[in-house]
Amino acid sequence: MRPGIPAPAIAEAITRLRAAGCVFAEEEAAVLSEAAGDEATLAALVGRRALGEPLEQVVGYADFCGVRVRLRPGVFVPRVRSELLVRIATNTESERPVVVDLCCGSGALGLAVRHRLPQAEVHAADVDPVAVACARDNLGGNVYQGDLFEALPEGLRGRVTILLANVPYVATAHIPLLPAEARDHEPHTALDGGTDGLDVFRRVASGAPDWLAPGGILLSEITETQEDQAVQAVRLAGLDADVIYDDDLEARAILGRKNVGGMR
Ligand SMILES: C[S@@+](CC[C@H](N)C(=O)[O-])C[C@H]1O[C@@H](n2cnc3c(N)ncnc32)[C@H](O)[C@@H]1O
Repeated sequence: MRPGIPAPAIAEAITRLRAAGCVFAEEEAAVLSEAAGDEATLAALVGRRALGEPLEQVVGYADFCGVRVRLRPGVFVPRVRSELLVRIATNTESERPVVVDLCCGSGALGLAVRHRLPQAEVHAADVDPVAVACARDNLGGNVYQGDLFEALPEGLRGRVTILLANVPYVATAHIPLLPAEARDHEPHTALDGGTDGLDVFRRVASGAPDWLAPGGILLSEITETQEDQAVQAVRLAGLDADVIYDDDLEARAILGRKNVGGMR
């Protein structure tokens, strides 16, 4: 906690957070106090949090996979389970991987991969200009705005060794069941994946073979109920398909691999 913030102000923050329903009011008050420069700023940050804004958006960062990711209001908060995509991506052998973080949001996945593989050439893209600005905060250059592959420079076609695509994959009917933090403070374009949640994924899978290098991989998070359909979409695109689980992270990823022969 910052020494400048008096104990009574912190105690009041805890009381307000608790009244707003924060289960970890003391811990959150500590994080908010750390982020606030003074008492007035702390009160403002607590006010935003009490209205349900995700803690990470309020303080402007999320700790993800060993890196601190800068966040802006309205940008998807990276989820702990997405570490699975980073782990798989960084397990691959390649001297200088060419990584694309498609549907990058804050750029958290690209940043975490670059942290683990500093030699990687990392590119990122998103359709949402706020997300693109946030990803530029985190990644610096090579961040593009546009609809899926349309955003990417032509020079990447056929060269991508790791295509991370943590697309929106919540089925439309399930959006009202999400926690209010997500429903009210993350854009629906970041969440809504259409009727079965796989609309954006299917487009990514069908476009992936043109952008992947031979042996290159596509990685996306999916739910248990989406497994069969996602595998089918990947095979339909001419890629080999695999599903990888991690019980601790409660995560499931689909991996599509382009044959070394490079044929679709
Ligand atoms: C579930 S969020 C994931 C963000 C980030 N990859 C992460 O894991 O933190 C999905 C992202 O996809 C973006 N998105 C949705 N539709 C898109 C499209 N057609 N083209 C590019 N990006 C899109 C959203 O703006 C959002 O940032």
